[in-house]
Amino acid sequence: MTTRVIINIAELTTNDAALGDGSPAGRLFNAAMVLDEQQVLWVGANADAPDADERIDAQDCAVIPGFVDSHTHLVFAGERSDEFEARMAGEPYDGGGIARTVAATRAASSEDLRRTTQQRVDALRAGGVTTIEIKSGYELTVEGEKRLVGLAKEWSDDVTFLGAHVVPAEFSHDRDAYVELVGGAMLASCAPKCRWADVFCDAGAFSVDEARSILLRARNAGLGLRVHGNQLGDTGGVALAVELGASSVDHCSHVNDGDLEALAASSTVATLLPGAEFSTKSPYPSARRLLDAGVTVALATDCNPGTSYITNMGVVIALAVREMGMSVDEAIWAATLGGALALQRDDIGHLSPGARAHLVILDAPRSAHVAYRVGSTLVRQVLRD
Ligand code: NIG
Ligand code: FE
Repeated sequence: MTTRVIINIAELTTNDAALGDGSPAGRLFNAAMVLDEQQVLWVGANADAPDADERIDAQDCAVIPGFVDSHTHLVFAGERSDEFEARMAGEPYDGGGIARTVAATRAASSEDLRRTTQQRVDALRAGGVTTIEIKSGYELTVEGEKRLVGLAKEWSDDVTFLGAHVVPAEFSHDRDAYVELVGGAMLASCAPKCRWADVFCDAGAFSVDEARSILLRARNAGLGLRVHGNQLGDTGGVALAVELGASSVDHCSHVNDGDLEALAASSTVATLLPGAEFSTKSPYPSARRLLDAGVTVALATDCNPGTSYITNMGVVIALAVREMGMSVDEAIWAATLGGALALQRDDIGHLSPGARAHLVILDAPRSAHVAYRVGSTLVRQVLRD
């Protein structure tokens, strides 16, 4: 296997507190690292860098772990910029537009879905994302959801079944039948390609009891659990996620004191999606309040055509820093190791020896430039295996 040494790294963020300066960022200055095609082999001082088959000169730029985007809805057809414009003019978001994307996605060929998903994957990768979770949820039929998870699997080992996104129009008079379908035939046909199941548990989507029944059946089918919770109101999704030991509860835009305490005492990660607040013109939740209570926080793009058509993790990080009270270091940690924890992956999100060789050489001397120079793509090189 070919080995490579990266020399002249001005600032290396490893996210391994045992390495470097002892901070959670596990930071080394004037550093070097050695990798092979799969994993990190060595991290240390530039002066001690060993030889390797190939040499990459970082030219005094910063290196960080690749971003882990733990929440996306990448496989969809069409776009909803008219809804974005209406919200900027004061219209609220209520999830109603999901039906439009469902209609467009059902009508799209697999070839078109593959092509447009690839474009979004390319955009995420160009911005330094090296792992992408992908949800289904825009067909809402047994065959359609099976098609979407099959497509998602072409790019991701972390595919999530989201048949419980909303109740489709054809079941609006019999939502119990749809809940039964999701937890029965639809789950059974999707589970082989999925690692996770998710439910949009919120006003206008699924109730806590409906969500619980679907998630319990998903758990019995061997899937890990995630929840879209408390995006639109104080609707019980966070408490349900903690009750079920879900890996992550995502959005958390409305978290009451009881939820906060329960989250802090649990191993459920709170995944914040500031792109959704940006694109729905909603108040940003305080990440500071969660962090100060001891909650583990992740950041993700939530890339979807309705509430967050964003493929740039740098923008997400900048919003979290500017609007949610995170330090730059906390936000970069949340978009790397935080995302890995939300996906229960111990091989990514950090650069300890043995970790996957997924990293970004930034076109900047310090990682803080990711937020400081918002909107610029500061990626010099992405190394992914
Ligand atoms: O995460 N909230 C539910 N699902 C998506 C939005 C889907 C849509 O509007 O198309 C979200 O924000
Ligand atoms: Fe989402």
